[in-house]
Parts: sequence; C-alpha cells; structure tokens
Amino acid sequence: MAFGEKVYWDNRMAFVLAAIGSAIGLGNIWRFPYICYKYGGGAFLVAYIIALIIAGLPLLILEFSLGQKIGGSAPTSIGKVSKKFAWLGWMAIIVGFFITTYYAVIMSWAANYLVHSLSLAWGDDPRTFFYTNVLGLSDGIFKIGSPRIPLLIGLVVVWAWIILSIWKGAKTVSKVVYVTVTLPWLILLILVIGGLTLPGAFKGIAYYLTPNWSALLNPELWQAAFTQVFFSLSVGFGVMIAYASFLPPKSDIVNNAFIIGLSDAATAFVGGFAVFSALGYYAQIQGVSVAEVMKSGPELAFVTYPAIINHLPLGPLVGVLFFVMLLTLAIDSAFSLVEAVVAGVMETFGTNRTKTNIAVGILAFLIGIIYTTTAGLYWLDVVDYYMSYFALFAVAFLEAVLVGWLFDTEKLRRQINETSLVHIGRWWVISVRIIVPLAALVLLVLTIGGRIKSAYGGYPRTAELIAGWIPILFAIVLGVLLGKSTAKMLQKE
Ligand code: TRP
Repeated sequence: MAFGEKVYWDNRMAFVLAAIGSAIGLGNIWRFPYICYKYGGGAFLVAYIIALIIAGLPLLILEFSLGQKIGGSAPTSIGKVSKKFAWLGWMAIIVGFFITTYYAVIMSWAANYLVHSLSLAWGDDPRTFFYTNVLGLSDGIFKIGSPRIPLLIGLVVVWAWIILSIWKGAKTVSKVVYVTVTLPWLILLILVIGGLTLPGAFKGIAYYLTPNWSALLNPELWQAAFTQVFFSLSVGFGVMIAYASFLPPKSDIVNNAFIIGLSDAATAFVGGFAVFSALGYYAQIQGVSVAEVMKSGPELAFVTYPAIINHLPLGPLVGVLFFVMLLTLAIDSAFSLVEAVVAGVMETFGTNRTKTNIAVGILAFLIGIIYTTTAGLYWLDVVDYYMSYFALFAVAFLEAVLVGWLFDTEKLRRQINETSLVHIGRWWVISVRIIVPLAALVLLVLTIGGRIKSAYGGYPRTAELIAGWIPILFAIVLGVLLGKSTAKMLQKE
C-alpha cells in the first residue's frame, strides 16, 4: 500500500484513551448538561442511554470494524466496501476538516481566557468583556472587520500544538493522550468536588436531574438524545475509522467500543455536576432561579463561568483550571479530526506524513482566520450547525446503509466476534441495517424541514447558503473527485 511503514498504537490503552479523547470534548461540558436539563432531567438520561445502546454503540462498532477489519482511513475502508462510495469517506473527512477550522478558534478563545484568568481581566462585566473586548463582535454577519490579534496569536499556538500532537501519527498520539485525556478528568473531578461544597449547589443539581417523566413522550426529547449521542461519540467524520485502522490485527473491538462509549457518557454526566453545582451557587447569590442563569455553549464558558469565578475564593486558580480543562478536552478532538484527514490523504496519494500534516494545518489555520474577525462568532455558529448536524446525519445514514445492505454484515459480525471479548449478537446487524439509518434519516429530514421553514438562528439566507449549503456541496463534489483517486489506488493493489 502507498503509505509506507504502518504505524500502530503503542498499546491498547493508548487507542482507548485516544478514542475517548476524541469523543469527550466541549460537547460534554457545555452541551450535554444543558440539554439534559432542558429535556426532562433524569428522564433524558434514560432516553440518552437507550439511544446510546440501540444506535450509538452499534455505529461506533461499525466504524471501528471499517477501520480495523476492512482496513484504512475513511476513504480507503469505505472504498474497499464499494469503490463507488469512496467519496463518502472523503466527504466525512472534508466536513471534519471544516470543523477543525473553527474548533481551533474556540480553543484560541480558551487560551486567551487562560491568560485573562490570572488577573480576572473580565472585571465586573464578563459579558461586555467577551463580546466587546475579546471578540469585538460586530452587529451583523456580513460586517466582517479585521482579525483580532490576540485571537490570531492564540490560533497560531493552537495549530502548533495540534500539528505536534500528531507529528508521527498514532505513535505520537499514543504518548500525548496520557496527559491530555487524564488531565481534564482530574480537573473535572476537582471542580465537581469544589462545586458541591458551594451553598446552593444542590439546588443546581436538582435542576439538572429532577426527572420529568412525561417529557419522554415529547418527540423533541428523542431527537435531542439521538443527536447528542451521535455528536458526542465523534462518529460520522471518519475519525473513529482512522483511529481503528491503527489497531494491530486481532484487536478487540466490541469491548473497546463499550468502554469508550460509556466513558464518554459518564464524562458528560459528571460534567453536569460541575456545571450545575456552580450555577446553583451563582443563582443563589444573585437571588434568581437556576433557569435564569443556565446557558449553553460559549456563553456558559466565556460569560457565565467567569462571572461565577468572580465570586469564588481562589478565583484565578479556578479560572486557570477551568480553561486548562477546556483546552485539554478540546485538543484531542481537534487533532483526531486532523489525523483523519492526514491519514486519508497519505493513503490515497502516498504523500509524506510531515508535509501532509503541515499542509493540512496551515490550510485549516488560514481558513480559521475568518472566525477571528469581528463577525467570527456568527460564522462559527452557522458553520458549526451545518457541519455538526446535517453532515453527520447524512454520513451516518449512508455509511450504515452501505455496510448494512451492500456488504456481508453477517460476515463482518463474525470477524468482529473472532477477536472480541464480548460477542455481538444479531441485534447489531439489525441496528446497522435498520435502527441507525432510520434514526439518522429522521434526524436529517427533521433538521432539513426546520431549515426550510426558517433560517438557522435567524441569520440571513445568504449567510446560510455561504456557510452551510455551499461547504456541504463542496465536500460532496471534492469528495467525488478525490474518491476517483482512491478507487484507482485500490485498483492497483
Ligand atoms: N465529540 C466532541 C464533543 O463532544 C465533538 C465532536 C463531534 C467531534 N464530532 C466530532 C470531535 C468528530 C472530533 C471528531 O465535543
């Protein structure tokens, strides 16, 4: 094959940690707790676990078996299933590439906040500080303005960090993840324990988890649960396929998938304790309800959390811990996406690892500059929505249909079982053939339906076209072109 000497993970633990590192990310901290609270607290957990078992884990096992049993990065392994579909692997990693372009910018915000924590630079008004001083946010998505220098500097640092983390592929990642996966867990634990000692913390936790069982009858809850499961497991962007391709032959798949899926869910669940204990405390000192202070996404991390830090003893220390946690949570997700692209390019075109790595990094950095401008947050928001949801559902749907219906799934199941400690039954085949495609298709249709009714987030339709539909179309068209090269490469083998 065209990619020289095959590099494997140092050991099983390295692979498990790297895959967990990709799965746990900002979503576990700023998305899961919020959604759980919004959709019926404890009742949502039930839906989440069901979605994880019937669709999430089977899809994860599918991606692992594509990478490990069939062999290669997303374009290669999907191309081996069917040459006509190599484009799908490319589409997945091109979308993943777009995601890294803004993921790195969010990391740059966090890096800036790490420095700001030392002096609590946000002062009494963290909101103005974030939107005006840090982002310099303009008042419209087309008022782009110039890049913010500190964000640009942060972005350079983040990209250097990403490129170095995957310098020798799985070999380097094997070392890096011992720190970048365990450290955020440790900090999260500290924040949970500290958080629970704050007055009002338990009121926050009650908000987070009090079950509203009737919410289980709400279809939106199920939509949110399946969406979050797919998103959180980092499936659909070729990452888990590439990572599994660095597993030596005969590696366990099923048990690893369970460990990874459950660790990801556990991290999100525990993350909720850190978030809601702090929010309970903040609501109490403000004399308002927890609902009023609950925010998700960047607002939670860069506005509300700094405001809470202002009221804590050892504020700068908590700030440093919090932003180091965000950075280390995010870095493994970021470099996993880049590694998926690098591996894909190397396999099809036989390019040199170092050069490919640097070229992909520089290109992503250059595209990322748009998000450091004064309209950056708006663009980031739209691109994130289209890439993370639409593209993910589309890829998951096609991947499952392709393997489930055009491939001998039963044989694949036997191959998986030959090397796995825990055996998967016929339920897996049923999930891959029916449940995963059906869930992904329903989510895709619902999301598209919603977007036909109104533009995402009230942005102008033209912005939606530029940052949403055109990149997706681009990923497909470029995917088809590159897929031809992959098919040719496979032909020669
Ligand atoms: N799973 C990550 C999170 O929870 C985000 C994410 C979604 C991701 N898809 C991905 C990361 C693909 C890496 C690759 O934050």
